[in-house]
Amino acid sequence: MPVFRSAKLDNMTTSIFTELTVEKRAAIARGVDVIDLSIGSPDLPPPSIVMDVLRQGVSDPSMYGYTITGIPAFNEAVAAFYLRRYGVQLTPETEVLQLMGSQDGLIHLAMAVLNPGDLVLCPDPGYTVYESSIHLAGGQVYAMPLLEENGFLPDLESIPPAVAERAKMIILNYPGNPVSALAPREFFESVVAFAKRYDILVVHDFAYSELVFDGIRAHSFLSVPGAMEVGVEFNSMSKAFNMAGCRVGYVVGNADVLATLALFKSHVDFGIFLPIQHAAVAALQSDDALHGLADTYAERRDVLCEGLAAAGWKVRKCPATMFLWARIPEGWSSYDFAFSLLREAGVAVTPGNAFGKHGEGFVRIALVQPPQVLREAVGRIERFLVQRQPMHT
Ligand SMILES: Cc1ncc(COP(=O)(O)O)c(C=O)c1O
Repeated sequence: MPVFRSAKLDNMTTSIFTELTVEKRAAIARGVDVIDLSIGSPDLPPPSIVMDVLRQGVSDPSMYGYTITGIPAFNEAVAAFYLRRYGVQLTPETEVLQLMGSQDGLIHLAMAVLNPGDLVLCPDPGYTVYESSIHLAGGQVYAMPLLEENGFLPDLESIPPAVAERAKMIILNYPGNPVSALAPREFFESVVAFAKRYDILVVHDFAYSELVFDGIRAHSFLSVPGAMEVGVEFNSMSKAFNMAGCRVGYVVGNADVLATLALFKSHVDFGIFLPIQHAAVAALQSDDALHGLADTYAERRDVLCEGLAAAGWKVRKCPATMFLWARIPEGWSSYDFAFSLLREAGVAVTPGNAFGKHGEGFVRIALVQPPQVLREAVGRIERFLVQRQPMHT
Protein backbone atom coordinates (compact mmCIF):
# COMPACT_ATOMS: atom_id res chain seq x y z
CA MET A 1 0.00 0.00 0.00
CA PRO A 2 1.37 3.49 -0.73
CA VAL A 3 1.97 5.83 2.20
CA PHE A 4 -1.10 7.99 2.64
CA ARG A 5 0.20 11.14 4.25
CA SER A 6 -0.38 14.76 3.40
CA ALA A 7 2.64 16.97 2.75
CA LYS A 8 1.21 19.22 5.47
CA LEU A 9 2.66 16.77 7.99
CA ASP A 10 6.18 17.00 6.56
CA ASN A 11 7.29 19.57 9.10
CA MET A 12 5.70 17.77 12.00
CA THR A 13 8.01 15.36 13.76
CA THR A 14 7.28 13.08 16.71
CA SER A 15 7.56 15.49 19.59
CA ILE A 16 9.83 15.35 22.62
CA PHE A 17 6.62 14.96 24.61
CA THR A 18 6.13 11.50 23.07
CA GLU A 19 9.71 10.55 23.90
CA LEU A 20 9.21 11.84 27.41
CA THR A 21 6.06 9.76 27.81
CA VAL A 22 7.91 6.62 26.67
CA GLU A 23 10.71 7.35 29.14
CA LYS A 24 8.25 8.03 31.96
CA ARG A 25 6.48 4.71 31.30
CA ALA A 26 9.82 2.89 31.27
CA ALA A 27 10.75 4.45 34.62
CA ILE A 28 7.39 3.49 36.12
CA ALA A 29 7.81 -0.07 34.79
CA ARG A 30 11.18 -0.21 36.62
CA GLY A 31 9.28 0.62 39.82
CA VAL A 32 10.28 4.31 39.98
CA ASP A 33 7.61 6.50 41.49
CA VAL A 34 7.89 9.32 38.93
CA ILE A 35 6.99 12.85 39.99
CA ASP A 36 5.56 14.29 36.82
CA LEU A 37 6.21 18.00 36.44
CA SER A 38 6.34 17.86 32.66
CA ILE A 39 2.79 18.41 31.43
CA GLY A 40 0.69 21.50 32.19
CA SER A 41 -2.51 19.65 32.96
CA PRO A 42 -4.18 21.22 36.00
CA ASP A 43 -4.39 18.85 38.98
CA LEU A 44 -6.87 20.99 40.93
CA PRO A 45 -10.65 20.38 40.93
CA PRO A 46 -13.03 22.68 39.07
CA PRO A 47 -15.23 24.98 41.16
CA SER A 48 -17.99 22.91 42.83
CA ILE A 49 -20.66 24.81 40.87
CA VAL A 50 -19.22 23.36 37.65
CA MET A 51 -19.66 19.81 38.91
CA ASP A 52 -23.16 20.58 40.25
CA VAL A 53 -24.35 21.99 36.93
CA LEU A 54 -22.77 19.12 34.99
CA ARG A 55 -24.34 16.54 37.31
CA GLN A 56 -27.79 18.02 36.77
CA GLY A 57 -27.22 18.35 33.03
CA VAL A 58 -26.14 14.78 32.34
CA SER A 59 -29.32 13.37 33.91
CA ASP A 60 -31.54 15.60 31.78
CA PRO A 61 -32.47 13.73 28.56
CA SER A 62 -33.16 16.98 26.71
CA MET A 63 -29.48 17.94 26.82
CA TYR A 64 -28.16 15.39 24.34
CA GLY A 65 -28.79 16.99 20.95
CA TYR A 66 -26.31 18.78 18.70
CA THR A 67 -25.70 22.29 19.91
CA ILE A 68 -24.12 23.49 16.62
CA THR A 69 -22.75 26.68 18.24
CA GLY A 70 -22.31 28.30 21.62
CA ILE A 71 -25.52 29.21 23.46
CA PRO A 72 -26.20 32.98 23.77
CA ALA A 73 -25.80 32.75 27.56
CA PHE A 74 -22.19 31.64 27.06
CA ASN A 75 -21.33 34.65 24.88
CA GLU A 76 -23.02 36.95 27.40
CA ALA A 77 -21.16 35.36 30.30
CA VAL A 78 -17.81 35.79 28.51
CA ALA A 79 -18.58 39.44 27.73
CA ALA A 80 -19.53 40.11 31.37
CA PHE A 81 -16.40 38.29 32.59
CA TYR A 82 -14.16 40.34 30.26
CA LEU A 83 -15.69 43.57 31.48
CA ARG A 84 -15.41 42.57 35.14
CA ARG A 85 -11.89 41.10 34.99
CA TYR A 86 -10.11 43.10 32.25
CA GLY A 87 -12.21 46.21 31.65
CA VAL A 88 -12.86 45.16 28.04
CA GLN A 89 -16.26 45.82 26.46
CA LEU A 90 -17.38 43.09 24.02
CA THR A 91 -20.50 42.67 21.91
CA PRO A 92 -21.60 39.14 22.84
CA GLU A 93 -23.11 38.24 19.45
CA THR A 94 -20.19 39.26 17.24
CA GLU A 95 -17.08 39.66 19.38
CA VAL A 96 -17.22 36.33 21.27
CA LEU A 97 -16.92 32.88 19.70
CA GLN A 98 -17.08 29.63 21.63
CA LEU A 99 -14.38 27.02 20.93
CA MET A 100 -13.72 23.39 21.80
CA GLY A 101 -10.68 24.60 23.71
CA SER A 102 -8.25 27.25 22.57
CA GLN A 103 -6.02 24.50 21.12
CA ASP A 104 -8.65 23.66 18.48
CA GLY A 105 -9.31 27.33 17.96
CA LEU A 106 -5.66 28.20 17.29
CA ILE A 107 -5.33 25.41 14.72
CA HIS A 108 -8.62 26.30 13.06
CA LEU A 109 -7.88 30.02 12.96
CA ALA A 110 -4.62 29.40 11.09
CA MET A 111 -6.48 27.18 8.62
CA ALA A 112 -9.24 29.74 8.22
CA VAL A 113 -7.08 32.81 7.60
CA LEU A 114 -3.78 31.64 6.07
CA ASN A 115 -3.01 30.76 2.48
CA PRO A 116 -0.13 28.46 1.56
CA GLY A 117 3.16 30.33 1.88
CA ASP A 118 1.83 33.04 4.21
CA LEU A 119 4.36 34.14 6.79
CA VAL A 120 3.57 34.15 10.52
CA LEU A 121 5.67 35.76 13.26
CA CYS A 122 5.87 33.22 16.01
CA PRO A 123 7.46 33.29 19.49
CA ASP A 124 10.52 31.07 20.08
CA PRO A 125 10.27 29.47 22.58
CA GLY A 126 6.53 29.20 22.19
CA TYR A 127 3.62 26.89 22.89
CA THR A 128 4.03 24.12 20.32
CA VAL A 129 0.59 24.42 18.75
CA TYR A 130 1.50 27.78 17.20
CA GLU A 131 4.04 26.23 14.85
CA SER A 132 1.84 23.19 14.20
CA SER A 133 -1.08 25.43 13.25
CA ILE A 134 1.08 27.32 10.75
CA HIS A 135 2.40 24.11 9.19
CA LEU A 136 -1.07 22.56 8.95
CA ALA A 137 -2.28 25.69 7.17
CA GLY A 138 0.68 25.55 4.76
CA GLY A 139 2.15 28.77 6.14
CA GLN A 140 5.74 29.64 7.02
CA VAL A 141 7.14 30.39 10.44
CA TYR A 142 9.34 33.40 11.18
CA ALA A 143 10.74 32.81 14.68
CA MET A 144 10.86 35.78 17.06
CA PRO A 145 13.40 34.97 19.81
CA LEU A 146 12.17 35.61 23.36
CA LEU A 147 15.31 36.56 25.24
CA GLU A 148 15.71 37.13 28.94
CA GLU A 149 17.49 40.47 28.36
CA ASN A 150 14.33 41.74 26.58
CA GLY A 151 12.01 40.58 29.36
CA PHE A 152 11.10 37.62 27.12
CA LEU A 153 9.26 40.00 24.75
CA PRO A 154 9.94 39.84 20.99
CA ASP A 155 11.98 42.76 19.68
CA LEU A 156 9.63 44.09 16.99
CA GLU A 157 12.22 46.65 15.85
CA SER A 158 14.62 43.87 14.93
CA ILE A 159 12.17 42.26 12.50
CA PRO A 160 13.39 43.27 9.02
CA PRO A 161 10.81 45.50 7.26
CA ALA A 162 10.77 43.08 4.29
CA VAL A 163 9.70 40.31 6.68
CA ALA A 164 7.10 42.49 8.41
CA GLU A 165 5.70 43.49 4.97
CA ARG A 166 5.26 39.81 4.09
CA ALA A 167 3.87 38.72 7.47
CA LYS A 168 0.15 38.07 7.73
CA MET A 169 -0.13 37.20 11.39
CA ILE A 170 1.79 37.57 14.67
CA ILE A 171 1.22 35.22 17.62
CA LEU A 172 1.82 36.38 21.19
CA ASN A 173 1.25 34.72 24.57
CA TYR A 174 1.37 36.68 27.85
CA PRO A 175 1.39 35.33 30.53
CA GLY A 176 3.31 32.79 28.52
CA ASN A 177 3.92 29.11 28.22
CA PRO A 178 6.67 27.91 28.45
CA VAL A 179 8.20 31.29 29.36
CA SER A 180 6.32 32.72 32.29
CA ALA A 181 6.47 36.44 31.52
CA LEU A 182 4.01 39.32 31.49
CA ALA A 183 3.59 41.94 28.79
CA PRO A 184 3.48 45.58 29.89
CA ARG A 185 0.72 47.74 28.37
CA GLU A 186 3.28 49.73 26.36
CA PHE A 187 4.38 46.54 24.64
CA PHE A 188 0.81 45.82 23.54
CA GLU A 189 0.53 49.43 22.35
CA SER A 190 3.63 48.96 20.21
CA VAL A 191 2.13 45.71 18.85
CA VAL A 192 -1.03 47.58 17.76
CA ALA A 193 1.09 50.23 15.99
CA PHE A 194 3.23 47.53 14.34
CA ALA A 195 0.13 45.60 13.21
CA LYS A 196 -1.43 48.73 11.74
CA ARG A 197 1.77 49.74 9.98
CA TYR A 198 2.14 46.36 8.26
CA ASP A 199 -1.48 45.10 8.13
CA ILE A 200 -0.85 42.12 10.36
CA LEU A 201 -3.43 40.14 12.30
CA VAL A 202 -2.53 39.91 16.00
CA VAL A 203 -3.38 36.66 17.75
CA HIS A 204 -2.94 36.88 21.50
CA ASP A 205 -3.18 33.68 23.53
CA PHE A 206 -4.41 34.66 27.03
CA ALA A 207 -4.96 31.12 28.36
CA TYR A 208 -3.16 31.95 31.65
CA SER A 209 -4.96 35.26 32.21
CA GLU A 210 -5.99 34.35 35.75
CA LEU A 211 -2.84 32.61 36.94
CA VAL A 212 -0.95 35.76 37.89
CA PHE A 213 0.76 36.14 41.26
CA ASP A 214 1.82 38.65 43.87
CA GLY A 215 -1.23 40.89 43.47
CA ILE A 216 -0.47 41.70 39.82
CA ARG A 217 -3.12 41.51 37.06
CA ALA A 218 -2.36 40.65 33.46
CA HIS A 219 -3.47 43.03 30.70
CA SER A 220 -5.84 41.75 28.08
CA PHE A 221 -4.45 42.67 24.66
CA LEU A 222 -7.92 44.00 23.83
CA SER A 223 -7.71 46.57 26.63
CA VAL A 224 -5.27 48.60 24.52
CA PRO A 225 -6.78 51.23 22.18
CA GLY A 226 -6.99 50.00 18.59
CA ALA A 227 -6.46 46.32 19.49
CA MET A 228 -9.98 45.31 18.49
CA GLU A 229 -9.27 46.59 14.95
CA VAL A 230 -6.21 44.39 14.50
CA GLY A 231 -6.55 41.38 16.72
CA VAL A 232 -8.20 38.56 18.55
CA GLU A 233 -7.54 37.01 21.94
CA PHE A 234 -7.89 33.33 22.82
CA ASN A 235 -8.91 32.30 26.30
CA SER A 236 -9.75 29.04 27.96
CA MET A 237 -11.82 27.49 30.71
CA SER A 238 -9.03 24.93 31.18
CA LYS A 239 -6.64 26.82 33.43
CA ALA A 240 -8.72 29.48 35.22
CA PHE A 241 -11.48 27.02 36.09
CA ASN A 242 -9.65 23.68 35.95
CA MET A 243 -11.98 22.41 33.22
CA ALA A 244 -9.26 21.15 30.85
CA GLY A 245 -11.03 17.87 30.09
CA CYS A 246 -14.33 19.61 29.32
CA ARG A 247 -12.83 21.10 26.14
CA VAL A 248 -14.35 24.54 26.20
CA GLY A 249 -12.71 27.86 25.46
CA TYR A 250 -13.34 30.98 23.43
CA VAL A 251 -11.87 33.67 21.25
CA VAL A 252 -12.83 37.33 21.51
CA GLY A 253 -12.04 40.45 19.50
CA ASN A 254 -12.27 41.48 15.87
CA ALA A 255 -15.72 40.57 14.56
CA ASP A 256 -14.61 39.95 10.95
CA VAL A 257 -11.94 37.48 12.03
CA LEU A 258 -14.39 35.72 14.36
CA ALA A 259 -16.94 35.46 11.53
CA THR A 260 -14.29 33.86 9.30
CA LEU A 261 -13.41 31.35 12.01
CA ALA A 262 -17.11 30.68 12.71
CA LEU A 263 -17.62 29.90 9.02
CA PHE A 264 -14.70 27.47 9.09
CA LYS A 265 -15.96 25.84 12.29
CA SER A 266 -19.45 25.43 10.87
CA HIS A 267 -17.90 22.86 8.50
CA VAL A 268 -15.87 21.13 11.20
CA ASP A 269 -17.83 20.71 14.41
CA PHE A 270 -21.38 20.61 15.73
CA GLY A 271 -20.88 22.34 19.03
CA ILE A 272 -20.19 21.40 22.63
CA PHE A 273 -22.32 19.19 24.91
CA LEU A 274 -24.94 21.43 26.47
CA PRO A 275 -24.22 20.62 30.15
CA ILE A 276 -20.60 21.66 29.58
CA GLN A 277 -21.76 24.95 28.11
CA HIS A 278 -24.05 25.54 31.12
CA ALA A 279 -21.24 24.63 33.52
CA ALA A 280 -18.92 27.10 31.76
CA VAL A 281 -21.54 29.83 32.10
CA ALA A 282 -21.88 29.10 35.82
CA ALA A 283 -18.10 29.26 36.27
CA LEU A 284 -17.76 32.55 34.39
CA GLN A 285 -20.61 34.09 36.39
CA SER A 286 -19.44 32.87 39.76
CA ASP A 287 -17.90 35.43 42.06
CA ASP A 288 -15.80 32.94 43.95
CA ALA A 289 -14.82 30.40 41.27
CA LEU A 290 -11.39 32.00 40.95
CA HIS A 291 -10.89 32.38 44.67
CA GLY A 292 -7.50 31.18 45.89
CA LEU A 293 -6.40 29.80 42.52
CA ALA A 294 -3.46 32.14 41.90
CA ASP A 295 -2.36 31.84 45.55
CA THR A 296 -2.28 28.05 45.26
CA TYR A 297 0.11 28.21 42.31
CA ALA A 298 2.14 31.01 43.91
CA GLU A 299 2.66 28.85 47.01
CA ARG A 300 3.87 25.96 44.83
CA ARG A 301 6.22 28.30 42.97
CA ASP A 302 7.68 29.49 46.27
CA VAL A 303 8.16 25.96 47.57
CA LEU A 304 10.03 25.00 44.41
CA CYS A 305 12.07 28.17 43.94
CA GLU A 306 13.10 28.40 47.58
CA GLY A 307 13.83 24.67 47.81
CA LEU A 308 15.90 24.67 44.63
CA ALA A 309 17.79 27.80 45.68
CA ALA A 310 18.70 26.08 48.96
CA ALA A 311 19.87 23.11 46.88
CA GLY A 312 22.18 25.43 44.93
CA TRP A 313 20.03 25.87 41.80
CA LYS A 314 18.79 29.45 41.50
CA VAL A 315 15.64 29.56 39.38
CA ARG A 316 13.88 32.76 38.34
CA LYS A 317 10.56 33.16 40.19
CA CYS A 318 7.76 33.05 37.65
CA PRO A 319 5.31 35.97 37.89
CA ALA A 320 2.42 33.94 36.46
CA THR A 321 1.21 30.67 34.83
CA MET A 322 1.79 27.14 36.10
CA PHE A 323 5.38 26.93 34.90
CA LEU A 324 8.89 27.70 36.03
CA TRP A 325 11.20 28.48 33.12
CA ALA A 326 14.45 27.36 34.67
CA ARG A 327 17.91 27.98 33.27
CA ILE A 328 19.76 24.69 33.73
CA PRO A 329 23.17 24.36 35.37
CA GLU A 330 26.22 24.92 33.14
CA GLY A 331 27.47 22.03 31.08
CA TRP A 332 24.19 20.36 30.26
CA SER A 333 21.97 20.41 27.20
CA SER A 334 18.27 20.78 27.98
CA TYR A 335 17.58 17.33 26.58
CA ASP A 336 20.29 15.55 28.58
CA PHE A 337 19.39 17.37 31.77
CA ALA A 338 15.68 16.54 31.51
CA PHE A 339 16.15 12.90 30.51
CA SER A 340 18.93 12.27 33.08
CA LEU A 341 16.77 13.82 35.80
CA LEU A 342 13.91 11.54 34.83
CA ARG A 343 16.03 8.37 34.61
CA GLU A 344 18.17 8.98 37.67
CA ALA A 345 15.90 10.94 40.01
CA GLY A 346 12.40 10.08 38.81
CA VAL A 347 11.44 13.73 38.25
CA ALA A 348 9.94 14.56 34.84
CA VAL A 349 10.41 18.07 33.45
CA THR A 350 10.27 19.24 29.83
CA PRO A 351 13.45 20.18 27.94
CA GLY A 352 13.24 23.82 26.83
CA ASN A 353 14.21 23.06 23.24
CA ALA A 354 10.85 21.25 22.82
CA PHE A 355 9.45 24.76 22.45
CA GLY A 356 11.93 26.11 19.90
CA LYS A 357 15.66 26.54 19.51
CA HIS A 358 15.82 29.51 21.88
CA GLY A 359 14.53 27.23 24.61
CA GLU A 360 17.90 25.46 24.69
CA GLY A 361 19.56 25.92 28.07
CA PHE A 362 16.24 25.81 29.95
CA VAL A 363 13.73 23.29 31.26
CA ARG A 364 10.07 23.90 31.95
CA ILE A 365 8.83 22.72 35.34
CA ALA A 366 5.06 22.50 35.75
CA LEU A 367 3.57 23.41 39.13
CA VAL A 368 1.01 20.63 38.91
CA GLN A 369 1.65 18.82 42.20
CA PRO A 370 0.85 19.81 45.77
CA PRO A 371 3.57 21.36 47.97
CA GLN A 372 4.50 18.11 49.76
CA VAL A 373 5.18 16.38 46.43
CA LEU A 374 7.17 19.40 45.23
CA ARG A 375 9.29 19.20 48.39
CA GLU A 376 10.01 15.55 47.61
CA ALA A 377 10.92 16.61 44.04
CA VAL A 378 13.31 19.23 45.41
CA GLY A 379 15.00 16.60 47.59
CA ARG A 380 15.45 14.31 44.59
CA ILE A 381 16.77 17.13 42.40
CA GLU A 382 19.23 18.14 45.12
CA ARG A 383 20.61 14.59 45.34
CA PHE A 384 20.80 14.42 41.55
CA LEU A 385 22.72 17.71 41.36
CA VAL A 386 25.16 16.63 44.08
CA GLN A 387 25.85 13.34 42.31
CA ARG A 388 26.05 14.70 38.77
CA GLN A 389 27.32 18.24 39.11
CA PRO A 390 31.02 17.41 39.54
CA MET A 391 30.96 15.77 36.09
CA HIS A 392 29.73 19.01 34.57
CA THR A 393 31.82 21.67 36.26
C1 LIG B 1 -0.40 28.75 26.09
C2 LIG B 1 -1.51 27.78 25.91
N1 LIG B 1 -2.47 28.08 25.03
C3 LIG B 1 -3.49 27.24 24.81
C4 LIG B 1 -3.58 26.03 25.47
C5 LIG B 1 -4.71 25.10 25.14
O1 LIG B 1 -5.67 25.15 26.12
P1 LIG B 1 -7.13 24.58 25.90
O2 LIG B 1 -7.18 23.98 24.53
O3 LIG B 1 -7.32 23.57 26.95
O4 LIG B 1 -8.05 25.76 26.00
C6 LIG B 1 -2.59 25.67 26.39
C7 LIG B 1 -2.66 24.39 27.09
O5 LIG B 1 -1.79 23.97 27.80
C8 LIG B 1 -1.53 26.57 26.62
O6 LIG B 1 -0.55 26.29 27.49
